[in-house]
Amino acid sequence: MKKNITILAIESSCDDTAAAVWQNDRLLSNVIANQKVHARYGGVVPELASRKHMQNILPVVMAALEDANVEKSELNAIAFTRGPGLLGSLLVGVSFAKTLAFSLGIPLIEVHHMHAHVLANFIEEPAPKFPFLCLTVSGGHTQIVKVNNHLNFELLGQTIDDAAGEAFDKTGKMLGLEYPAGPIIDRLAAEGEPVFSFTKPQVPGLDFSFSGLKTAILYFLRDRLKEEPDFVKQHLEDICASVQKTIIDILLEKLRTASEQTGIKEIALAGGVSANSGLRKAILEMANDESWTVSVPKLAYCTDNAAMIAMAAYFKFLEGDFSTLDTSPDVRMAF
Ligand code: KG4
Ligand code: ZN
Repeated sequence: MKKNITILAIESSCDDTAAAVWQNDRLLSNVIANQKVHARYGGVVPELASRKHMQNILPVVMAALEDANVEKSELNAIAFTRGPGLLGSLLVGVSFAKTLAFSLGIPLIEVHHMHAHVLANFIEEPAPKFPFLCLTVSGGHTQIVKVNNHLNFELLGQTIDDAAGEAFDKTGKMLGLEYPAGPIIDRLAAEGEPVFSFTKPQVPGLDFSFSGLKTAILYFLRDRLKEEPDFVKQHLEDICASVQKTIIDILLEKLRTASEQTGIKEIALAGGVSANSGLRKAILEMANDESWTVSVPKLAYCTDNAAMIAMAAYFKFLEGDFSTLDTSPDVRMAF
């Protein structure tokens, strides 16, 4: 009988504590504890995040094992997010993974958070075919990646300042919405029309920029509020629809250029912002025009989760790519 490969994965790079169990070719469990404490601060407060991770990690890991109906003694490896992320947050997951791997006498597998976002596209069938281009859009990163195989990633373009998720979150802060504002703007945008337009950045190549958009929105709101003090309240849905459309247009224009330059028509989306319903709809329309095959992960695998860490770890396990116990978090882990 073939031996099982069973991996417990832990994700703690930002504000969500997550654990998942992967066995052979399928996900057995996927548990996440979201942190609500940051909502009123307009962004993640690192010190609060690491304290919450410490409270959450044991119950989350126990729940993942229980949901999977797997005993610790059945595990073959412990995977963890090594970076990039917040130091205090990463430290909780890394220390926990190291301790558990050491006590069970099994290998450790370190995972790059952004590689894992891309590999979320492999958790469920159909998976994209190599080579493919992945637009990874999250709270901290905006990247166009050429994926040659499960372990080989080429960065073709990235943001030179703010990430797409930050553009959503910072707009939300200006509009008085809670953090993370992306999902709220998504919902409001569906009830509005993109009647306001914002200048798009001119960035050479396949890189992105979103900080100019943030300033444009700030000045736009300042000017309109002078004329109409109730402007935000009266036009909230239309403002959200307009900002969302601008962000989507910027992202998809670059993706189209990347596809033209590489000749690759196999396309994937990843990262928290890929949960955006407007982006998911727009990429399918573009796929129609450009004859692309598009892969978009299930919503639960777009935002931070441990299933994607487990998926990435499984491919590394097959290659025997393990880490040693002296590993430590890498806040700006090289891509
Ligand atoms: O990948 P992720 O969960 O965490 C990071 O690695 O950063 O991404 C979080 C980002 C936040 O900026 C959040 O506002 C955004 O993803 N986000 C969305 C949506 N859901 C999450 N943005 C737009 N529309 C959504 N539905
Ligand atoms: Zn992420």
